[in-house]
Amino acid sequence: MKKDVQRASKTFDLIAEHFDKTRNRPWYEVVEFLEGLDGKLLDMGCGNGRHILEAVKKDLEVVGVDASIELLTICKQNVIDEFYTLSKVDLIRADVKNLPFFESSFDSALFIAAIHHLKEGRVRSLREAKRVMKDNGKILISSWARELDRWDLEDHEREVMVPWHREDGEVIERFYHLYTLEELEEDVRRSGLSIIDSFHSKGNNYVKAKKLPKS
Ligand SMILES: C[S@@+](CC[C@H](N)C(=O)[O-])C[C@H]1O[C@@H](n2cnc3c(N)ncnc32)[C@H](O)[C@@H]1O
Repeated sequence: MKKDVQRASKTFDLIAEHFDKTRNRPWYEVVEFLEGLDGKLLDMGCGNGRHILEAVKKDLEVVGVDASIELLTICKQNVIDEFYTLSKVDLIRADVKNLPFFESSFDSALFIAAIHHLKEGRVRSLREAKRVMKDNGKILISSWARELDRWDLEDHEREVMVPWHREDGEVIERFYHLYTLEELEEDVRRSGLSIIDSFHSKGNNYVKAKKLPKS
C-alpha cells in the first residue's frame, strides 16, 4: 500500500475502537439519500459501517472499502451483530484512489467524511467512483466544511491536523483537507460526475452527483 494510505490506516487503526463508540448513528442526510436506491451500493471509506447497516436495512447489497483493518474488523462485527450474517455485505481493504472493481460494478455510492482525509488524489478518488458506477448511478459525497468558524486559518489555508483524544488520554492527529462547498463542487465536476444537488448541513458540505451515460 502507498505511504498515504498506510498513514490513514495507522491513524484510524489507533482510534478505531473509540471511533466506533462515538460514531454509531447514521447521518440523516445519508439515510435520506439511501431512500429509493436499489441494487448494489459501494461505501467508500466505510469506517465502522454505520451507513452500511442502514443500507442493508433498505435491502441494498453493499461493498464497504476502507484502509483501516481495525475499522473493517469492527465493521464486520457490527454487521454480524445486527443481521447475524454477512450475506449482504462484502468488506475490502483498499485505497479509494485505486478501487479493485471492474467498470460499472455498482448502482450507487457513498463517500462520507472520507475524501477530506486524502492529501492527494481527491479528484482521482471521485473518478474512481465514477468508473465503478453504472450509468445514472448516484453518489453522495460529504466533507467537513472549511466555512466553519472553528478553523483559525489564513484565507488560503486548507490543510489541518485535528487531534483525536482517546479514552486512555493518548492524542492522535488526523489529517484534513478542508473544502468549501464551492471547492468540493469543483472537484466533483473535474471528475466528470454531474452534480444533482449540493448543500451545507450540520458542519458538513454535501454534493449529490450522478454518472451521466457516456461521460
Ligand atoms: C471519518 S471516517 C468516516 C467513516 C464513515 N464513512 C462514516 O461516515 O462513519 C473516514 C474513513 O476513511 C478511511 N480512509 C481514509 N483514507 C482512506 C483511503 N485512502 N482509502 C480508503 N479508506 C480511507 C478511514 O480509514 C476511515 O475509516
